[in-house]
Formats: sequence, structure tokens, C-alpha cells
Amino acid sequence: MLHQTSVVVVVFCFLLVASSSYASVQDFCVADLSLPDTPSGFPCKDVKKVSVSDFVYSGLAAAGNTSNIIKAAVTPAFTAQFPGVNGLGISTARLDLAVGGVIPIHTHPGGSELLVVIQGTICAGFISSSANKVYFKTLNKGDVMVFPQGLLHFQINSGKAPALAIVSFSSPVPGLQITDFALFANDLPTEIVAATTFLDVAQIKKLKGVLGGSG
Ligand SMILES: *[C@@H]1O[C@H](CO)[C@@H](O)[C@H](O)[C@H]1NC(C)=O
Repeated sequence: MLHQTSVVVVVFCFLLVASSSYASVQDFCVADLSLPDTPSGFPCKDVKKVSVSDFVYSGLAAAGNTSNIIKAAVTPAFTAQFPGVNGLGISTARLDLAVGGVIPIHTHPGGSELLVVIQGTICAGFISSSANKVYFKTLNKGDVMVFPQGLLHFQINSGKAPALAIVSFSSPVPGLQITDFALFANDLPTEIVAATTFLDVAQIKKLKGVLGGSG
């Protein structure tokens, strides 16, 4: 009888250990960037090769170069730069806006965005898809604004000094499509752009010239 009880206890303990190990979730899946991306993220790097440096990214410490047409820079910490976020549904970026700088109307198809103003004054807003209603406001240091996934939105430095914001995304690969680049930075023929946007041909050609488009 005693023997039988010990066997039962041993079996029970074994089952407990086995079930808890089966129930344990995978802690992380640091991206193996040498393998191709997939719709569910990059394959995981061998855990034996993972170190703390996979979970730390220092690329946001330096200001982005704002000597460009939009006088602004987005420095991303997405999976490609920061493999530790792979599979975690999260990522971040740094936004530098020089005086007069603007992040033109754009969308992130893959995630919602949360913006924190660290320095300066930023006029930011988004446009709903259901009613094309505009929600915009001038944000100051410490203000936080959220931009729902997929909606067109923008940020403008509306102050007299450089502005800095940190943005977070609800995806490690939020994606970015800037409307002006989609319309004017490729070879979509001018007559099709005109027919589908009702813009003047002269304006389209001017923007194609500025943004490197053709056609
Ligand atoms: C910033 O970008 C401009 C234009 O590409 C370039 O001429 C300049 O050297 C860059 N500045 C720095 C500090 O990298």
C-alpha cells in the first residue's frame, strides 16, 4: 500500500512538472535578421546566442538629420534596428523636427502610435476613416497623443525651436506610408494622378520633380 502511494505521488509530481513545462510560454523571439521576414515576424535567433544587447538599443540617443525637404527625421527602433522587439507587438522611434519641420500626412498600416512630446511644440492630428473628421491639437512638452492604427496623421513643429518626440507603436513593424510619396515619388503617370486626385497637372509635375517621381 505504501509502495503504491509513493508511485502515485511520484507520477503526480512528474505530471505537475511536465504540464507546467508544456504550459510555459516562449519568453521572447529575438529576430534572426539573417533569415527572411514572415507575416508573423522573423524566425527566432538561437536562444544560446541571445544576449542583453538584443534587448537594448542606443540608436535613439542621437538626433536625426533634419537637413532635408521636410526638415524632420524619424529614427526608428523597429525589428530591423532592434531585433529584441520581434514578436512583442511593440516598437519605438525618435522624431526630430527642426524649426518649420513637418512629418507629412502618413499612415502606419500595422499599428497604433503613441507620441510623447519631450521638447518643443508640435501640432499633431489625425483624420478618421469613417467620417473624415479631423482631430488635431497643439501639444507641449509632456503631452501625449494617440493615433489609431491605419489612420492618416501628421506632426508639425509649430514652435520657434527644435522639437523632439518619442513615439511608440503597437507593432514591431508598424510600417510607414507617406501620402505625398505614394502619389508623387513614383512613376504613376501624371494623367492617372490627375484623374484620381483632381489635382492640377502642373502641381503634380512640380511635386514629382521635388520628390523624385517621374511620368
Ligand atoms: C545631414 O544631411 C545632409 C543632406 O543629406 C548632409 O549634407 C549632411 O552632411 C548631414 N549632416 C550630418 C551631420 O550627417
